[in-house]
This record gives sequence, structure tokens and C-alpha cells, in this order.
Amino acid sequence: MLTGRRIVLGVTGGVAAYKAAYLARRLVEAGAEVRTVMTVSALEFLGPQTLAAITGTQPAVEMFRQPSVSPHVEMGQWAEAVVVAPATAATISRIANGLSDDLLSATILASQAPLVIAPAMHTEMWESPATRRNMALIRRDGHVVVGPGSGALAGGDLGPGRMSEPEEILAAVAALFAPGLLAGLRVLVTAGGTREPVDPVRYIGNRSSGKMGNAVAAAAARLGAEVVLVTTVAGPAAGVEIVEVETAEEMAAAVWERAKMADVAVLAAAVADFRPAQPSGRKLKRAAGPPGITLEPTPDILAGVAAMADRPFLVGFAAETGPVAEAIAKGKHQRVDLLVANDVERDDSGFGTDTNQVSLVTPDGMVEAWPVMSKDEVAGRLWARVAAMLPGRES
Ligand SMILES: Cc1cc2nc3c(=O)[nH]c(=O)nc-3n(C[C@H](O)[C@H](O)[C@H](O)COP(=O)(O)O)c2cc1C
Repeated sequence: MLTGRRIVLGVTGGVAAYKAAYLARRLVEAGAEVRTVMTVSALEFLGPQTLAAITGTQPAVEMFRQPSVSPHVEMGQWAEAVVVAPATAATISRIANGLSDDLLSATILASQAPLVIAPAMHTEMWESPATRRNMALIRRDGHVVVGPGSGALAGGDLGPGRMSEPEEILAAVAALFAPGLLAGLRVLVTAGGTREPVDPVRYIGNRSSGKMGNAVAAAAARLGAEVVLVTTVAGPAAGVEIVEVETAEEMAAAVWERAKMADVAVLAAAVADFRPAQPSGRKLKRAAGPPGITLEPTPDILAGVAAMADRPFLVGFAAETGPVAEAIAKGKHQRVDLLVANDVERDDSGFGTDTNQVSLVTPDGMVEAWPVMSKDEVAGRLWARVAAMLPGRES
């Protein structure tokens, strides 16, 4: 599976470090050449001799006074993939912020190889605003995050923060080298909410954060597709071409131009249905009293793609507050190949959340309600489904 692949395994200072020994063994069994880097804290949790015996080389810990003049650069350039398991909150913070103040973080910064991170920590640390911020940066940089799972933590506590099992991490590493599920496909994704000007200062907008569309674009890139993301918000950079737009009109122009070249289009942006017919060229003044704003329809981006003669496989997202039946009707009406109805009424789903509850609706009326999942998981499952529906491809 990983024959001859050069993997750097970083081990940091958490209780789950004991699982890193088994992960190292599984990587070696899969045929990889494994070098390990331990943080100073990791030495408190796992004996370096264990990793040395499994991999055949001593773990590297220190940056200075080593046989290699520049161990971080040497290892960073040697690696075809870097895996950090377990990844503590401290190391995650270093990676997110580009610090290089120990051998592991310097090696990561000095490497252009893909990075797989398996976080492990207590629930409170995982859910702290700082870790959430750091994880958002890590995802935006395009790194692969595995887990954490939910379950028994050190000390008998229960909750999210448990490191994923070594087999799951191994599968994520193997996936880096497998020909992608979407290899050879050109994918177009939209994300974010459009902003329709009222005057030079104000706009009519919506609550979309762009997280779902970003996750769909990032997952497609990871799966080997050539990805264009037309978005109103900052999107994932790694492997994705970004086209920034603001209004429905701009998004329509960008999408219609690129849809002709795409094999699959996933329209996840929240596009305004109406816009001010005559936006003021100057800021409206309070003293003039409330303006009467006349609205006009915006271009229907999805209908435009659906009507193309040689159109891509079309996936539409619909924010739903009503029953799924409405989504079914919409699915038939809009002639999409797959409609993803997004429940925006729940606290754990829809705008701005990291999780989502969606139902898949095909034009023939099949409705499949998925459980609440992270937006990354929804994206991965959606691509598996789309790939299975494309002629000549299977998931
Ligand atoms: C018993 C014990 C268990 C710990 N487990 C974790 C853990 O699972 N995750 C974590 O982020 N920090 C954990 N810590 C705290 C880290 O060891 C500490 O933040 C350290 O500075 C991490 O450094 P490193 O990222 O350089 O390895 C633990 C500390 C102790 C004393």
C-alpha cells in the first residue's frame, strides 16, 4: 500500500502517544520507510527506544548539535508525507501559526509534503475558541485532519477529543498516494452568500458562511479533481483555483463561463433571489428618511447551468426551513442531478456551523436523510455519491 514511501511521523506530548507506536508499526508493515520526530513532551509519554525498534532509526528530538547540520530541512525535504499523531493543542497551535520553535514544527514548515494531523486532547481543549480558530486555519491551509473521535478520554472523561484509531490514520495516509476518486475531473463549486448593494456602503446579504462550499471544494481537490471555487468568502487555498465575486450577477457570469468546461458543478452558495433594482450611487442619508427599495429578481444561476446544452453533472444545495417535500418539488423543478437539502433551522446545521444535517434528493424523488456530520464528512460522502453516479465511475 505504501511501498517505498517516505513518511515522517511526528509524535507529541499526549497520552495517545502510546497509539503512535502501533501506527508506526502499521506504516512499516504497509511498506513505508518511517522516520520519527518526537517533541520533548512526547518523551514523557513514550520511550524513544520503542519507536527506534519499530522503525529502525532513532527518533529525532533536538534541532541542534545533531549529526545533520539542518535536520528540519533534511527531513522536511525527505518526506513524501508528514503525519502528526497524536497532535496536541500546543502543536496544532504551532502548525496553524507557522511557528518553527521545535524540531517537529520546523520540519513541517520546511516540508512541501502533504500533512496529516490526528488531534488528541480533552474535550475542553478541543472545544476552546483558540483550538477552534487554529483548526480553521489548518483546514484552510488544506491539511488533512483525521478525527478526533468521541469516546473515553484519559482520566475517565467522555467526549470529543479522542485520537482516531491508527487504522483510520493509515487509511488517510494511503489515500494521499492512491489515484484520487475524482482524478481527471474538472469540478466547479460555489460558496458563500452574495451581497447585493443598496448603496456604496450597505447591501442585502444572508447568513451563509461559505463553510459547506469550502469543504466541498477542498474535498474535491484532495480527491484529485481540478477545482475552481467561485466564492464570496475566503476559501481553501490548497489545490483550488479561487474566483472571488460579490453579487449574484458576478457569480452568475463566473459560473456560466466556467460551467461549460466542468464535468461536475456543485452550487452550494446562498444566492440572493432579489436585489435592489436601482442601488444608490451615494450613501443614503438618515435625514432623508427610510428609502423605498424596489427589488428585482437576480439571475437564476442554477437554472442557467441546468439549461446548458452540454451541461455538467449538476448538484444544487437548497437551504430548507420547510418539509423535505418542498425540496423534492424543487429537485424536480430545477432539473438538477442531485439536490442537497440543507436543514437551516437546527442549531447544529446550516449557516455558520461546523456540522450539517442534509437530505439528498434525486429528481426521481428518492430522499435520503443523512445524520448530523461535520461539513468535511458531508463533503466526502457527497463526492463518493457523485462519483458513483457519474457514467463510467464507481465509488
Ligand atoms: C498527563 C498529561 C496528559 C496530557 N495529554 C494531552 C493531550 O492529550 N493533548 C494535549 O493537547 N495536551 C496534553 N497534555 C499537555 C501537553 O503535554 C502540553 O501542552 C505540552 O506542552 C505539549 O507539547 P508538545 O505539543 O510540544 O508535545 C497532557 C499533559 C499531561 C501532564
